[in-house]
Amino acid sequence: MSLRAVSAAAPGAAAKIRAAMRRDGLAVVDGLFPKPLLKKLRDSVLKRHESGELRRRGLVRDIAGRYAAVIPFEGPFLDKRFYANSKVLKAMAALLGPDFCIGSLETVISLPGAYRQHLHIDSPIRFDTAIGKGKRRWRGDLTDLPPYAVTLCVPLVDLSEENGATALWPGSHKTALRPTPPSDAAIRRGFPEEHMVGPVGRCFFFDFRTFHCGMPNYTREPRPILMFVFTRSWYRDPNLTDVYPSVVVEKRRLKKMPEAHRKLFLLSPASRRPVWS
Ligand SMILES: [Fe+2]
Repeated sequence: MSLRAVSAAAPGAAAKIRAAMRRDGLAVVDGLFPKPLLKKLRDSVLKRHESGELRRRGLVRDIAGRYAAVIPFEGPFLDKRFYANSKVLKAMAALLGPDFCIGSLETVISLPGAYRQHLHIDSPIRFDTAIGKGKRRWRGDLTDLPPYAVTLCVPLVDLSEENGATALWPGSHKTALRPTPPSDAAIRRGFPEEHMVGPVGRCFFFDFRTFHCGMPNYTREPRPILMFVFTRSWYRDPNLTDVYPSVVVEKRRLKKMPEAHRKLFLLSPASRRPVWS
């Protein structure tokens, strides 16, 4: 990996992350989470993976030998140093404004034998119109739009070229919302390919518009990562329209949180006011 990692402890880390995200749609950050906490998160995910629970509750998505599942905020995931990590929240405010919320928390388990995923972005926004059978693309330029959704990828094991690093094309986020989306070939020609390899403790932020794909897992071990998505409060991830709930926390846990943390969970059923039941 040729990108320089930002140290989470360095002064001005949030500004550095924002600068990298503007330029590359990608920021690599070291030291966001304590290692013992990452170990607890990993153990919890692997236990649920090994019992088959995650697979049963997995999302219906064909991702080339990987599966994804929503993770509830409970156990070690309710540790403030994870769900309300001050460095993460500072960076997300710098990227998404003050009213951002948690869009989802998923794990993606790359199973032994997982193969290279297709190049994609996680969700475009489009303003097409339809008159009769004809679809018309909106021709406006959205390339300077600020981010509306950002994923914080938290690897739970060391990532290498063998066990399924994520490949990203820094800078490609500026092309994703063009009236005609770029071809795979144009992305490969126009931007460098970077593989997110490194020891546990190294995380990366990426814009929903940055082209990426999962690389093969040649090892005999499953490779768990967390995809912790934050969005502007008005954005809804179309990948999760068939999933309920996409943010899971118990009401009694939510009640105990300080107000500033509670608002992160505005998409969880526990935050909603039932009006017909
Ligand atoms: Fe993706």
